[in-house]
Amino acid sequence: MRKIWWKESVVYQIYPRSFCDSNGDGIGDLNGIRSKLGYLKELGINVIWLSPIYKSPNDDNGYDISDYQDIMTEFGTMEDFDKLLEEAHNQGIRIVMDLVVNHTSDEHSWFLESRSSKKNDKRDYYIWREAVDGHEPNNWGSVFSGSAWEWDENTQMYYLHCFSKKQPDLNWENPKVREDVFNMMEWWCEKGIDGFRMDVISMISKKEGLPDVPTDGGIYGNSMYGTCNGPHVHEYLQEMNKRVLSKYDIMTVGECAGVTIEEAKKYANAENTELNMVFQFEHTSLDSGVTDKWCKKPISLVELKANLSKWEMELEDIAWNSLYFCNHDQPRIVSRLGDNSPLSAKCIATVLHMMQGTPYVYQGEELGMTNCSFGCIENYRDLESINAYYELTQAGIRQPEELLECIAYKSRDNARTPMQWNTKKNAGFTEGIPWIMVNPNYTEINAEKEMADPESVFHYYRKLIELRRFSQWSDVIVYGHYQLIAPEDPYIFAYTREYKEKKLLVICNVSANTVEFEIPENIVWKGTELLIANYSELALSRKRKMKPWQAEVWDIL
Ligand code: NOJ
Repeated sequence: MRKIWWKESVVYQIYPRSFCDSNGDGIGDLNGIRSKLGYLKELGINVIWLSPIYKSPNDDNGYDISDYQDIMTEFGTMEDFDKLLEEAHNQGIRIVMDLVVNHTSDEHSWFLESRSSKKNDKRDYYIWREAVDGHEPNNWGSVFSGSAWEWDENTQMYYLHCFSKKQPDLNWENPKVREDVFNMMEWWCEKGIDGFRMDVISMISKKEGLPDVPTDGGIYGNSMYGTCNGPHVHEYLQEMNKRVLSKYDIMTVGECAGVTIEEAKKYANAENTELNMVFQFEHTSLDSGVTDKWCKKPISLVELKANLSKWEMELEDIAWNSLYFCNHDQPRIVSRLGDNSPLSAKCIATVLHMMQGTPYVYQGEELGMTNCSFGCIENYRDLESINAYYELTQAGIRQPEELLECIAYKSRDNARTPMQWNTKKNAGFTEGIPWIMVNPNYTEINAEKEMADPESVFHYYRKLIELRRFSQWSDVIVYGHYQLIAPEDPYIFAYTREYKEKKLLVICNVSANTVEFEIPENIVWKGTELLIANYSELALSRKRKMKPWQAEVWDIL
């Protein structure tokens, strides 16, 4: 297996709006991030992925970009960005930018031109269609509720928007679009950035003829069928790779909705003709309902193990995995798979960080930050949650109270409450009025307190990262072969990692119960050494009682 820095890295995702506000306007910003580089250095990460910081009217918090080469007013200036990049580099931290090119904002100059007339040069930069029998051209639904088509009065045609109507989809079939996107990417690379996280990049090539798709029981057709892993997506990414990516020492990760193992082997192939790795969604969809994600189905550990293990085993030597439970679109894992306790946060972190792949830590995850009780729908800020609430209750499909409970559990806003720095006003996030409510549990869960406590979730993450990056076990943690143990055990997530002369045994009780576990006979050890644990453990015994959320990693060779 080829050794390279991005396989050996730990990435920290920053959602700038909620990270740190330096000027008191209630919105996080670039100078706020800059002031926290020391914190990130102490945590031990070496790559930052910045959620979008570009100019944007913020219909979808920056995932609707109106100028790719300018900075969002609330976040600061290009000068602030340059300083951040320079200081991060001085500290040995790389910066990966979010690249949102499946769509732009409807306020981007390309779209303003495109919608101005059918004859405009940029008309074909987006996906325009005539009405069919006075209706939308097909049954596709937007990911954010409603139809995926918006009628344009001026030119009397519909345009496609897989997300909000303020996020029109670019037409990647147009070579000029690709050229403009590649030029823009090159411009950022020349500035010295260290990579791209590519937003819904699996959706850039739509199915030929834009046919109707199955509804899966929802109101509209599930547009994923018409957009994910489309006919030209690999061709476009190979072109992007040749034209831009291959010229720089950068890392790339594609957010690939609808990706299967077979597709991932192409996107993240080891020959490196497309991307370095993908974010897959199978494991984060295990607790979804048939129609949508708005339910409170618990995650089955047996299914989670089977899924993650499949990705571990099948991509080995062929592609590369990214490892994540949390990001700005997911509720907090400690409230989803755990029970909000620091012990469960540590246990879940152990499961993930000892696997093969590049781990991603989402801001606050390293503190064990939890879901937030928002109460009424008015306290939410995320358009996905708000639109779903009104669409489904107004259509009489769901009852308001019941749906609100599911939204409380799954809303993306759970990940977007301000970072909890200390016990001061607004958790030390801002001097002003925060744009979204602060989780009241900041008095208990905050960075200042955890940094001072060697037993905290923060220090546990720091240790996991240190083991991966700077220990005698680095190679086995990064490159070791993965093997699941006891696949049918409903509580224990256990596996081994093996590389050259080293073998690790990871045992995690992913439950709040005390459970019996017997290490299978085929796993043998002479000496043992404990790498990390969330209880004080002295010896490894074959037959044992695992305490609630107990997690351990042993060197068994
Ligand atoms: C995926 C991003 O992660 C999400 O936050 C965003 O809303 C959609 N793509 C649309 O850009």
